[in-house]
Amino acid sequence: MSVAKKDDEIKKITTHRLVSMKQLGEKISMLTAYDFTMATLVDQAGMDIILIGDSASNVMAGHETTLSITMEQMIYHAASVVRAARRALVVCDMPFGTYQVNATEGVKNAIRMVQESGCDALKLEGGVEIVDTVKRIINAGIPVMGHLGLTPQSIHKFGTYAVRAKEDAEAEKLVSDAHALEEAGCFAVVLEKIPAALAARVTSELSIPTIGIGAGGATDGQVLVVQDMLGMNQGFKPKFLRQYANLAETITSAVQSYIHDVKTNDFPNEKESY
Ligand code: KIV
Repeated sequence: MSVAKKDDEIKKITTHRLVSMKQLGEKISMLTAYDFTMATLVDQAGMDIILIGDSASNVMAGHETTLSITMEQMIYHAASVVRAARRALVVCDMPFGTYQVNATEGVKNAIRMVQESGCDALKLEGGVEIVDTVKRIINAGIPVMGHLGLTPQSIHKFGTYAVRAKEDAEAEKLVSDAHALEEAGCFAVVLEKIPAALAARVTSELSIPTIGIGAGGATDGQVLVVQDMLGMNQGFKPKFLRQYANLAETITSAVQSYIHDVKTNDFPNEKESY
């Protein structure tokens, strides 16, 4: 177990460092976080990238989809994570509707997100359709991570959360989208829920890192939603998810003990009183 380092001993991860990690064959670790307490633990554990995913809409607010989360809500979550992160690169999702209308609106919202949250980089879903916007955001000085495959902001177009790009036509489109994002200047691309062989092909063709979720073991890094891998989200158990703890059980049992102690007058005792 590592001892927490002082601020001046911590080397902040940069987008350039991630590209070197790919070149050196060093895998990249990425997890989501949406609040200060969780982000502090994730950062101190040595995470490379913390993502304030728009999955906050599901995980933190209980919505069915990611579509309803707003700029204000994402800025609140991202600013909380930024206050916690010393080492990790902090990447924030641009919410649905803030970059799809046109490039000018996209770049304006991107600047606002970075200015008001303090995050290091942004993630946008989509391929060639959003390349002009991606270029404009990068030209404004903001690093961009792409996101291809299962892109939850398009869930109503897909109609299902099933694996994407199993057919040749969709797989070829995904490969050309990945190249377009690299040429536009993205520093990395998330590949979500696609066949492992396709993710391996994209990873070998691109010089920027790929970060997989449900995309097999050949990508340059992996990402999961933190509450899912900690076993806090009882109903969600897709094949790609490895659960590293069962916090649902731990938390429920702790809360039940507290209820018991309050009801039986055991808490607080004399030592816990002034
Ligand atoms: O919103 C999110 O959590 C994500 C990851 C699953 C990649 O986009």
